[in-house]
Amino acid sequence: LGMATDYLRFEGISFMKNVHSTEILKSVCDEFVVRDGDVVILSYPKSGTNWLVEIISLIHSKGDPCWVQSVLTWDRSPWIETIDGYERVNNQKDPRIYSSHLPIQLFPKSFFNTKAKAIYLIRNPRDVITSGYYFNKALRCVQNPELFEEYFECFLPGNVPYGSWFDHTLGWMSMRGKENFLIISYEELHQDIRASVERISQFLGKKLSSDELNSVLKNVSFEVMKDNKMSNFSLVPDDIMDHSKGKLLRKGITGDWKNHFTVAQSEAFNKTYQEKMGELPQGFFPWE
Ligand code: A3P
Repeated sequence: LGMATDYLRFEGISFMKNVHSTEILKSVCDEFVVRDGDVVILSYPKSGTNWLVEIISLIHSKGDPCWVQSVLTWDRSPWIETIDGYERVNNQKDPRIYSSHLPIQLFPKSFFNTKAKAIYLIRNPRDVITSGYYFNKALRCVQNPELFEEYFECFLPGNVPYGSWFDHTLGWMSMRGKENFLIISYEELHQDIRASVERISQFLGKKLSSDELNSVLKNVSFEVMKDNKMSNFSLVPDDIMDHSKGKLLRKGITGDWKNHFTVAQSEAFNKTYQEKMGELPQGFFPWE
């Protein structure tokens, strides 16, 4: 029904037809071999994935901005479950960094027997809806709802690419506490980027000097990233993104949902949220 009709369906989940194929999705899930040294960036779309890619890229280059200024973000951290990204990741040299929006049940099975380090990025789902509503307007491969209300109605039951935010989050949350799995939130990055970068670099086993850390912080700021054409999506081909209709780096704030949700939407959202996430301890997420 509604927005999902034009999508490719794989294992009950919608995917954008022009960047994915059933064959590649199957290969990623069943055949892709994750290696112990891999670093994996996991998220539900619009959680701040590209911010985390920038942070990890700069930690990797020890604060030297040359890499992020000369290599496209999707080459630094390919999006494995896309047709192009799968090819890119298969040509990567170790140590590999790659990204995925897959729910846990579709992620490469081989991962679960490795020491590969994965970081799962979460964000207030209300802001995820808001960010997605605007970003989808620019994407040519999704049906763009004119009204926020339409997008909201599709998001709640998971009738959007990558399916339900609730299922995605609950699925990956089952990995919490594992030594090679770090959960970090957009809200934490926002509140204390220095402490967050230190936490991530410690998890990755990369020690940064204070000059290196300062350089990472400078280069991952919203303003600097917005102007970096390797990271700001301005080089995404026109047949995928209509650049006159939206930008990846839109507002970069927390709580923008408050400018969009009606009281009724807020109540409907809370009800679904409670039904789906109620089992987790209260105050588990930073936005609660
Ligand atoms: P908004 O649309 O709310 O502005 P993703 O990379 O998963 O698609 O997420 C995109 C969101 O991350 C956008 O949110 C974007 O502005 C935000 N973002 C990207 N880089 C950022 C940065 N350096 N600082 C703050 N937010 C950033």
